[in-house]
Amino acid sequence: MTQAKFITFEGIDGSGKSTQARRLAARLGGAVLTREPGGSPGAEEIRQLLLTGDPDRWSAETEILLFTAARRDHLEKTINPALAAGQTVISDRFADSTRVYQGATRGDLRDTVDRLHEVMIGREPDLTFIIDMDPAKALERGLARKSGEDRFEDFGLPFQETLRHGFLALAKSAPERCILIDGNRSEDEVASDIATQYAARI
Ligand code: ADP
Ligand code: TYD
Repeated sequence: MTQAKFITFEGIDGSGKSTQARRLAARLGGAVLTREPGGSPGAEEIRQLLLTGDPDRWSAETEILLFTAARRDHLEKTINPALAAGQTVISDRFADSTRVYQGATRGDLRDTVDRLHEVMIGREPDLTFIIDMDPAKALERGLARKSGEDRFEDFGLPFQETLRHGFLALAKSAPERCILIDGNRSEDEVASDIATQYAARI
């Protein structure tokens, strides 16, 4: 039996990650589709603490701990059991989001993010699709949803530009698992590109 694969989707808010994660899961059949922050009952509770309320609700340090706590629970309760059962896992965001978002907000905390990851998570995806797109277009898409979970999206366009560059740098620094996808295309075009790249790598 081939080893089950762990696939993640990353990118700025509104870049089409959720749409494409869903489409790849539907295409593969039998894959576990999950998301962060969240993906397990405990981590979904932590998600509410992170994504709703005053943007200044948490210090940067507390926020990193909450994202890491949520990820640890997600890994223990959802990701690892599914992989052990031979199921492919597709996650809409994972550790790269902490590296980029929390690293972008407070660059001096990037080392803390990396150390916490090493101690508490210690797992990288087998393959990561980073969907790259124009932040102005992505922001329009994202805010059009009005989900109420907009604590981060409230930070606006310059923040999204910084994040985009963070994801591009990350893709360059981990080419063995990251594939950059041009998200400025129709849903169908992006999905077929992802399907082709997936087949080539897995
Ligand atoms: P993310 O998970 O990255 O925030 P979503 O997949 O939720 O992004 O997409 C954000 C919004 O943009 C949704 O309303 C979705 O239907 C729409 N959308 C997704 N992909 C595309 C695309 N390629 N072209 C146009 N609209 C899209
Ligand atoms: P998500 O629900 O994926 O938002 P979107 O669909 O708009 O991309 O993620 C919620 C927000 O949490 C998003 O703005 C990114 C942020 N986030 C972090 O800052 N750090 C993290 O580690 C994760 C997983 C998400």
